[in-house]
Amino acid sequence: MTNINYELIDTTAPAPEQEPERQRYFIAKCREIIKERELEIGRKLTFYDQTFGCQMNFKDSEKLNGILEDIGYVKADTEKADFVYYNTCTVRENANVRVYGRLGALKNYKKKNPEMVIAMCGCMMQEPEEQEKVKTTFKFVDVVFGTHNIFKLAELLYECLSGRKRVFDVWEKTDQIIEDLPSDRKFGFKAGVNIMFGCNNFCSYCIVPYVRGRERSRKPEDIVAEVKKLASEGVVEVMLLGQNVNSYGKNLENPISFAKLLTMVEEVEGIERIRFMTSHPKDLSDELIEVMAHSKKICKHLHLPVQSGSSRILKLMNRKYTKEHYLELVDKIRTAVPDIAITTDIIVGFPGETEEDFQETLDVVRKAKYDSAFTFIYSKRSGTPAAKMPDQVPDDVVHERFDRLLKVVNEAAKEQNGKLTGNTELVLVEEIDEKDDTMVTGRLSNNSVVHFKGDASLIGKIVPVVLEESKGFYYLGRLSVNG
Ligand code: SAH
Ligand code: SF4
Ligand code: F3S
Repeated sequence: MTNINYELIDTTAPAPEQEPERQRYFIAKCREIIKERELEIGRKLTFYDQTFGCQMNFKDSEKLNGILEDIGYVKADTEKADFVYYNTCTVRENANVRVYGRLGALKNYKKKNPEMVIAMCGCMMQEPEEQEKVKTTFKFVDVVFGTHNIFKLAELLYECLSGRKRVFDVWEKTDQIIEDLPSDRKFGFKAGVNIMFGCNNFCSYCIVPYVRGRERSRKPEDIVAEVKKLASEGVVEVMLLGQNVNSYGKNLENPISFAKLLTMVEEVEGIERIRFMTSHPKDLSDELIEVMAHSKKICKHLHLPVQSGSSRILKLMNRKYTKEHYLELVDKIRTAVPDIAITTDIIVGFPGETEEDFQETLDVVRKAKYDSAFTFIYSKRSGTPAAKMPDQVPDDVVHERFDRLLKVVNEAAKEQNGKLTGNTELVLVEEIDEKDDTMVTGRLSNNSVVHFKGDASLIGKIVPVVLEESKGFYYLGRLSVNG
């Protein structure tokens, strides 16, 4: 929520042209409609979001929720709400299937609740054929927008509510970055911060550049101002978000490196921990490694997607590094930051992948000693260059490789996890343990999870914990009394 007094906005005047003033005006207009509806039906109106995909989408949903709360909607905990939106992902085929699978239930809720407004947004809606499908097959969906105009939610909702009509507004691209709109953060003590939008890398399998547009960096001063504001609100950990944070700032009017941005964020008082996602190996600089090695706040965790261990496949993937270059990078990082946890993403079954190529991937997993890896089966995305490549790998071969990969990933992870047993480490307490309410769950700097005895008063605090036992993917510990 913001501190803006919407009552002071003259909603009888024409809409301002400038952003974010224009959206504030439409928030005020929507507030009037919602208030009237509340009086008529004798209860508050509610909203619910269903968010799929990556951190970018979750961050976008926080912004959308902030706008909805300023409009006067109250957050519900079920889809039986008055405004429901699906923020979609299209990175792999199964992401799309899941969305359409769930939409059916909404139709039934809407039949029972005439107030209900249903919206779809996010990456899937950037694809013309998906938009068309929603338009013609899912007629109960009222509002559709894309990734470039989430800031416009209030204006679109106003059009829908005032005209009682369906509203479709998807932009092909944008060069705008709208600052200073509301946001409803999920956690009080940690927050994601966008540092850039879009992607220019065009990895040959990936749809993200097509649905998120060209790379745009936010100005460092805007990012630092947001981080300062978050710190003043009690946030101790920030996660800097971008599809390829290592190329941050290159296209700004006054270019600046990601490493430099990190040093600026490091100076913000109150921020204790800094994380970032995602690092593309091709742009990871020595300057960044240097900054990580000397930083007191940057967490000892690097997510460094390798995608494949075969230099031949990496070339076809347009990743612009080789297996050797990647492993050298890993070595350099481990030497500079000894206790760092390295995690990765791997795709199995890219077109043309042979058993030999796959063996190279297994080799990288063993050599890089990942703490964990997200493993994906290659999914053909129409419009990407890889979709047209010959030798798509048969399903049974891919699945068999996938199972073998999982085994090797788990073996590597087992070796890494538990390395800190016996140490006393600082832990950011995140929540009450899901399985035992006399315990709390927190994270180490290296992103490992630890459970230990404690209560809700610890949530959001950074405390020393003795890591008593490793349980494979997590530790059991005890609050250190000596500090
Ligand atoms: N920008 C990040 C990745 C964003 S997508 C990066 O470059 O590392 C997250 C992950 O989804 C990717 O790392 C990749 O492993 C996986 N992915 C993307 N497209 C895919 C596809 N077509 N099939 C299977 N996995 C895919
Ligand atoms: Fe996709 Fe590659 Fe961009 Fe990551 S860097 S979002 S994998 S195109
Ligand atoms: Fe999915 Fe879009 Fe993220 S396609 S992975 S939600 S950028």
